[in-house]
Amino acid sequence: MERLKMGIVGAGIWGENHARIYQSHPFVEVTAICDMSPQKAEAIASKMGIGQVYSDYNEMFQKADCDAVAIVTPDFAHGDIAVAAAAHKKHMLIEKPLATTREDVYRIVDAAEKNQVRVMVDLHNRFSPPFNAAHQAVERGELGTVYSAYMRLNDVKWVATDMLPWAAKSSILWFLGSHSLDTLRWFLTTR
Ligand SMILES: NC(=O)c1ccc[n+]([C@@H]2O[C@H](COP(=O)([O-])OP(=O)(O)OC[C@H]3O[C@@H](n4cnc5c(N)ncnc54)[C@H](O)[C@@H]3O)[C@@H](O)[C@H]2O)c1
Repeated sequence: MERLKMGIVGAGIWGENHARIYQSHPFVEVTAICDMSPQKAEAIASKMGIGQVYSDYNEMFQKADCDAVAIVTPDFAHGDIAVAAAAHKKHMLIEKPLATTREDVYRIVDAAEKNQVRVMVDLHNRFSPPFNAAHQAVERGELGTVYSAYMRLNDVKWVATDMLPWAAKSSILWFLGSHSLDTLRWFLTTR
């Protein structure tokens, strides 16, 4: 089977996870990585064996040999990159939340439709075994008819105050709540 060639934009905490997971997948290889901080991109490239390093995502979309790209930049910085990737006919896996403004959401959707590329948002609770087991239980009717649902998340305050330098430009509802909202919606829209 031909291997899917991935490019990654954003060589931060989560971008490194994308790189590690793609590089360990038998049908995927990461051909290029980009970060506005070239040192961060180079560090992950040398650790994960990625051949091409860029600091400008437009240049990467133009020159790198990749079929699809992962957009793993801060929440507020997905829109412009996704629109540019679509213009270069790159399929995309975009980190959650898709965007933090309604305008960016529509810009991304319009660009993807216009350029006929696929976009998936990384709402990976859907692929996580415990959530998937719960979803299957709802689908099988084991819980009867579900009328309402509630989800509680616990996290340390440090994530919002120190871990994410860009947290003030997003919100806990965006970077954590988007998973919960998606999961509950998935459970409740089941047949
Ligand atoms: N799916 C999940 O469970 C999950 C988990 C963690 C983070 N995330 C999401 O992943 C994204 C990144 O989070 P993170 O924790 O890795 O943040 P981070 O701050 O560690 O990394 C972001 C990187 O993007 C780079 N960047 C910013 N703007 C750029 C641009 N225009 N061009 C190139 N590089 C640019 C920064 O230099 C930085 O290295 C966020 O949207 C976050 O919500 C998702």
